[in-house]
Amino acid sequence: MSGALSMVAPDPTGGGHVPVMLAEVLESLAPRDGATFLDGTFGGGGYAAAILSAAGCTLYAVDRDPDAIARGAALAARFDGRLRLVEGRFGDMESLMAARGVERLDGVVLDLGVSSYQIDQGERGFSFRTDGPLDMRMEKAGPTAADLVNTLPEHEIATMLWELGEERHSRRIARKIIAARGDAPFETTLQLAEAIHMVMPRDPSGMDSATRSFQALRLRVNDELGEVERGLEAAKRLLAPGGRLVVVSFHSLEDRIVKRFMREAAGRMPGASRFDPSALGPATARHATKPAEFRLLTNNALRPSSAETTTNPRARSARLRAIERLAA
Ligand SMILES: C[S@@+](CC[C@H](N)C(=O)[O-])C[C@H]1O[C@@H](n2cnc3c(N)ncnc32)[C@H](O)[C@@H]1O
Repeated sequence: MSGALSMVAPDPTGGGHVPVMLAEVLESLAPRDGATFLDGTFGGGGYAAAILSAAGCTLYAVDRDPDAIARGAALAARFDGRLRLVEGRFGDMESLMAARGVERLDGVVLDLGVSSYQIDQGERGFSFRTDGPLDMRMEKAGPTAADLVNTLPEHEIATMLWELGEERHSRRIARKIIAARGDAPFETTLQLAEAIHMVMPRDPSGMDSATRSFQALRLRVNDELGEVERGLEAAKRLLAPGGRLVVVSFHSLEDRIVKRFMREAAGRMPGASRFDPSALGPATARHATKPAEFRLLTNNALRPSSAETTTNPRARSARLRAIERLAA
């Protein structure tokens, strides 16, 4: 959930998931009576409960983790049919909504990554701090992280660590993984973390040296960046005029995708590179883009307050961006 899993601190309330930037999310989404919203990342239901309490609206709450959906039943009972739980991926929100007869939404919120529930349960295999099976699947289906590290060729492991973990020592770690799995396949999170620690220098910032590799594996196992791209495009098509899209991301790879998508939707392309031949031309042509369908509600990403990061360090890397569909 963060650029670094090390950002995932123990829940200050001693259990569950503390919603991040909740006040800012509510203000950006602006729930109103009679409207229909979608929370694509239900998690512990922190946003869902707040949205449903703020207005007499209906909320479709999607999560790909069957445990999150099962936990949501108690919350659904509290809101008299206004909370509709949907197991699935937000990247598939169009078909999930079509199957329920919903063609238009007044708002979509995405709070990317994993929840504290997932991180704190060793048996889900997300954390390098707690021993557990090397799993990392949000959906509990498909290939596990162990399957990947035990079967991918060395160059693919290195590329994954470099591209999805921004790990400078990707080749060194990939080499170590290949050597170690020759002795015995990886089965647990601590086995992998220890192998990485053996070849990595201590990080001066105090960040665990396995952080970036674990992030890369988690993103790959769950195709998280692909999901973000599909989810943003689907939300764009589903939002009614005046409808809002609010996204909270936790690392630069996600935020880069969200920022670019929102700027394009608002008719503002990022500045062209002077190394890009297509950028050679009049300034107007260089920045010409499709007509705006949305307006930016956040010119720059909103960041959590220092009061929030003090009580919930997991919020430290959060960035919130939002857009609103223009009237037709
Ligand atoms: C950060 S938590 C959300 C917390 C929630 N906002 C709250 O206040 O409790 C992220 C949740 O999104 C789910 N998730 C992540 N990617 C998903 C996807 N592509 N589709 C559906 N759910 C996803 C995870 O399983 C996790 O439960």
